[in-house]
Amino acid sequence: MKTKHQFLFQDSRCLSDIKSDTIDLTVTSPPYPMIEMWDNLFIEQNSQISDELNKDDGKSAFELMHKELDKVWQEVLRVTKSGGWVAINIGDATRKIGNYFQLYSNHTRITSKFITMGFDVLPLILWKKTTNAPNKFMGSGMLPSGAYVTLEHEYILLFRKGHRREFKTAEEKYNRNVSAFFWEERNRWFSDNWDLKGVYQNLFNCKTRERSAAFPFELPYRIINMYSVKGDIVLDPFVGTGTTSLASAILQRNSIGLEIDSNFKDIIFSKFNEIPNKSYELAKSRIDNHLSFIKEYIGKKGGTKHNNNNYNFPVVTKQEKNLLISYINNIEFNSNSFLTSHCEYNLKAENLKTENEFVFFNEQKQPQQISLF
Ligand SMILES: C[S@@+](CC[C@H](N)C(=O)[O-])C[C@H]1O[C@@H](n2cnc3c(N)ncnc32)[C@H](O)[C@@H]1O
Repeated sequence: MKTKHQFLFQDSRCLSDIKSDTIDLTVTSPPYPMIEMWDNLFIEQNSQISDELNKDDGKSAFELMHKELDKVWQEVLRVTKSGGWVAINIGDATRKIGNYFQLYSNHTRITSKFITMGFDVLPLILWKKTTNAPNKFMGSGMLPSGAYVTLEHEYILLFRKGHRREFKTAEEKYNRNVSAFFWEERNRWFSDNWDLKGVYQNLFNCKTRERSAAFPFELPYRIINMYSVKGDIVLDPFVGTGTTSLASAILQRNSIGLEIDSNFKDIIFSKFNEIPNKSYELAKSRIDNHLSFIKEYIGKKGGTKHNNNNYNFPVVTKQEKNLLISYINNIEFNSNSFLTSHCEYNLKAENLKTENEFVFFNEQKQPQQISLF
């Protein structure tokens, strides 16, 4: 199966190139209202924001910035299929405007917009950012009562358009089953508390801003695994350096990314160049990690009831029986898009030698023996 990855260097407040009810999952991180690095971008979209900031009216500036984001969310509503998901990474902002310090709660403002649009609000994820130091001085220091706690986390807001998605046809069921994740991955990913390292932000030689504001690859990688299946279309209306598209490609989903600043094209293309190696390494590490996990699990519990049909190794649940991991073996570059070809990760368990040992055939078709105990 080939997947397609399109980049539209245009304003996502209008998604007229995308048909209604076609997107399965949106994963994105918008510019954060009231974080200074984004002021100019919002002012370019509505010059009144500059007037409100100059008048020290932070509350009005905040609302006007969100009114610009609302236009994108309204388009996301239109293009999302019934049962489709939207995941938004956003941080709140603290800021002193004039003499007045306050929190600008971006996550609550976006949540209320999604409620108004009729989305279901599902449990959110707190992304604990290890980079923010808790001892940062904010307010009256050691004297009560004018000190403020430091923001050490961001949010991944999760919304669904309507009821749970149904998988009716044989093809839909197949795609869902091969997109399963391991039991131990589920236990790690479906926690509301993620401790992910941020990414290096400097954009050297970039004609545009100094910091990429990129989220770590692991963030869209997990969300795409959790809320979509192979062959789906994933949208990122604020694609920046292309992290969502990269994760979509590696996970055999199609993607559409919009970015207002076309200077990001070179960065996106250089990321896609690295894809075959990265996708192979990720496939390998998922299998290797599972084998380490299952070895320990069997050591403690004595065995599992289920085997994966594709790899013939033990898995904890029936739902993992058809899980199949693929990687990218070819990319075709077009002017603003990529086509990626995928092949199955070929570390297939050919036979179960003894109760405690598996023999797999690695990429070079050489048997590789893995002892479970
Ligand atoms: C927080 S960054 C996203 C970073 C991205 N997640 C990554 O990993 O690189 C937000 C991006 O949205 C872009 N942007 C802001 N407003 C936009 C709009 N109306 N249409 C399209 N892109 C926009 C900005 O240029 C910026 O690159």
